[in-house]
Amino acid sequence: MPELLEEQRESWGTRGGFILAAVGSAVGLGNLWGFPYKLYTYGGGAFLIPYILALFIVGIPLLILEFSLGHFTQRAAPDAFRRGHKGFEVIGWWGIILGFVIITYYPVILAYCFSFLGYSIAGIFSGGNLPWAGQGIEGVEKARNFFFDNYLHYHEGLSLGSIQWDIVWMLVVSWLAMYLSIFKGVKLVGKIVWITVPVPWLMLLILAIRGLTLEGSSQGLAYYLQPVWSELAKPTTWRYAFGQVFFSLSLAFGVMITYASFLHRKSDINNNAAIIGLADFATSFVAGLAVFATLGAMAFATQQAGTPVPVENVAKEGPSLAFVAFPYALAQLPYSAWFSFVFFFALITLGIDSAFSITESVLASIVDKTGWRRAIVLPVISVVGLGFGFFYVTQGGLNWLGIVDGFINGTWGIAFLGLLECTTLGWLWRINTLRKHANSRSDWRLGWWWDYLIRIVIPILLGTLFFWQLFDDLAAESGFIKMPDGKWNLANLVGLGIVSIAPVIAIILTIVKGKGENEHQVEKDLPTDGTGEGIGVFASSVIAAGVFVALIFTDQMKSYILWVIFGMAILSTLGVLYSSYLVDKHGNSRNEASWFVRWAGLIFVLDVSAFLAIALNLLTKAVKTEKAEPVVREMMSGISMIVLTAALVLIVGGLGWCFYKAIAAAATEKTMEIQAPEED
Ligand code: PHE
Repeated sequence: MPELLEEQRESWGTRGGFILAAVGSAVGLGNLWGFPYKLYTYGGGAFLIPYILALFIVGIPLLILEFSLGHFTQRAAPDAFRRGHKGFEVIGWWGIILGFVIITYYPVILAYCFSFLGYSIAGIFSGGNLPWAGQGIEGVEKARNFFFDNYLHYHEGLSLGSIQWDIVWMLVVSWLAMYLSIFKGVKLVGKIVWITVPVPWLMLLILAIRGLTLEGSSQGLAYYLQPVWSELAKPTTWRYAFGQVFFSLSLAFGVMITYASFLHRKSDINNNAAIIGLADFATSFVAGLAVFATLGAMAFATQQAGTPVPVENVAKEGPSLAFVAFPYALAQLPYSAWFSFVFFFALITLGIDSAFSITESVLASIVDKTGWRRAIVLPVISVVGLGFGFFYVTQGGLNWLGIVDGFINGTWGIAFLGLLECTTLGWLWRINTLRKHANSRSDWRLGWWWDYLIRIVIPILLGTLFFWQLFDDLAAESGFIKMPDGKWNLANLVGLGIVSIAPVIAIILTIVKGKGENEHQVEKDLPTDGTGEGIGVFASSVIAAGVFVALIFTDQMKSYILWVIFGMAILSTLGVLYSSYLVDKHGNSRNEASWFVRWAGLIFVLDVSAFLAIALNLLTKAVKTEKAEPVVREMMSGISMIVLTAALVLIVGGLGWCFYKAIAAAATEKTMEIQAPEED
């Protein structure tokens, strides 16, 4: 396979540099701040089931896909997609724009961390006094007031209120740190991540060991790990598990495509992706151990002091776990200021490399398209990103942060982009070219099943989740667009506005011709084989879609409806399989199968998803979705021990297997040759 581009592209110094940079992007606030509370809220140990399924079936395979695409084309996301077809560039930009929206608010959370780091340092110097420290239940209230009133000057609702200048300065510090990390190019990034990745790991380890060795810690772990199986019957649990895998692995925003484009030509892909995926899970899991062990110790300490605060009282803080519950818990324990320093330092070092990975991918996309200089584009991106950040450092800013984050990581953001990405690459492009590309240089190989995973299994999973969420949101009673009192739901309209502007801008950017573009590298698209059969299957796929639309407008409460839905789902699945067979028969590898066949497959996949989703929607309406009353748990049960052991075995065994494969591959002469680093 001739390389597409012979030009010299900047590269990471070493394999380690790339792995750490990708891990740095993946491992972020999502791990320490997101994962533990989501696991606690959505079923404890039971949450690990959808999470691990999502990680292995969707997360790691998509990571391999994004790495292959970036590496094969050596281009940042938009231009990488463009190699398939001019129009695909839209998908690349779409992700980049949503990524840009993330870096308007992600550094704001970093700014909070910088402030709290400051308070912790001041605490260390003032003999261990933390400003939020307090006793018993009132202490929890005090910590909450400290964060919301003293620090944020928070108010409910959608009005922004005044700008909080104390936070603005910290936001400037965050952007400056990001700017300094990437302004010199990826080679320097490859070095910086040798600090920003191991340091938070060390800190997490310190927090975990300390938490676990304190008295009462197992009480906390009982909350973290005890499975609540009934949560698995709720759609939200599955959505959150899938969404968390996407967000945590930085998938669908073009970041991993861009990072892989800087990987030198002979580097491994498959094994790197597996290592990164497992390392990310390991970090989340250990972060959860650290958080909940500490909460357990806090519960014990307050019990001893005669002012008991049970774990569930603070764990329910959810998103403000990092700025209310955890700081409070630390304040109950010895050397609180020091450990609070360790905690916020860990958050900052975790988050900073995730944040700059997005800036880097926006930057590289613009540079690849326009040919403008990094030295000019980066300051502009930083100033614009910082400017948008002002919205969130206001009194109502945190509300908006939640709304925007919810949209980006919800139905129209991640879920939709992931779907678009696999269907496009799987049906409209040449998935097996990417597979061969990845296999030719990896420590282990992907089999033929890979093509079907990307083309059929993942899109159906993501598609079903997407439509399911859509039905939920659009159901009149959800109040998503119009609230029960008839008023417009302003927050959601703004959110919808943001996510729907993204494709419009993406289309404009695609149409504008860039200087960095090179027409002859775009593949010619005149595939015509199997047009006759193609028109037939294409028509059937559209008819199936028509049946679906008709279903929406009929009374779904009729008893035969479920049978119609399942019948259509099965017929559409047959359509998917037949289209897939036709695509392969007419030569997928040389892009020869006609567009009709390809689009038929794509539409059939969406048909299957839509029918499954509507069925799930009808079936789960019957399931009660109230949250069970929290049960007081004193000790870790046998089953939590099993969950703990299983997770650790999976992490250690998985990583062990990857490293074994890497060493074995390096030992065979053939791979030695391939793996030899290029001169730079
Ligand atoms: N993966 C990062 C985290 O878990 C966030 C992120 C999302 C980074 C998307 C890049 C792109 O915090």
